Amino acid sequence: MGKRVLIISSSPRKNGNSDTLCHSFAKGAKENGSEVTEIFINDKKINYCKACGYCETHNGACSQKDDMDEIIDEVLKSDVIVFSSPVYFYSISGQLKTLIDRLVAVYTKITGKEIYYLLTAAENGKSTFDRADACLDGLCDCLSDIKIKGMIYAGGVWKKGEINSTRYIQQAYDMGAAV
Ligand SMILES: Cc1cc2nc3c(=O)[nH]c(=O)nc-3n(C[C@H](O)[C@H](O)[C@H](O)COP(=O)(O)O)c2cc1C
Repeated sequence: MGKRVLIISSSPRKNGNSDTLCHSFAKGAKENGSEVTEIFINDKKINYCKACGYCETHNGACSQKDDMDEIIDEVLKSDVIVFSSPVYFYSISGQLKTLIDRLVAVYTKITGKEIYYLLTAAENGKSTFDRADACLDGLCDCLSDIKIKGMIYAGGVWKKGEINSTRYIQQAYDMGAAV
């Protein structure tokens, strides 16, 4: 049976460079029998974590009612989680960081996942992705029994659509097909 794959696309640019990589990964995974859910989080209502501590005394339930409930459901039932982000000031997007912080309510329950990173940036320097990568590693360091299985660092793409003429499209497809 195929795996359940959750793809979290965090750029505000729909069908932009990182979102396009998500679509390629999804296509590969679907064609290989996986069940794929893509979430474009800019369309979702995700409040900041308030650090109120409610989740600590309510078995991981959050005091806030917004779209994080459905996202957390998807996170918990997935076998594979793909985090996608543009590089913003050498870090991940604020949208993705906001989502990650809200996982505090359930992070101890997120176990046994296979993780992928799909990152895009205008620059193509050796260290362009280091800090975005480290942000995602920071989350993964807090999860148990997970494997970071692959990452794509798609540098040199600035304007929407520039990703389409790069080898990263095929790379994302192949990665998805191999989950
Ligand atoms: C707010 C903002 C900050 C950015 N910061 C960086 C950066 O630090 N380094 C870089 O190489 N590109 C930077 N970029 C460019 C994006 O990473 C690049 O255009 C990327 O391909 C966008 O992906 P998207 O189409 O999925 O949004 C920035 C873009 C924006 C809008």
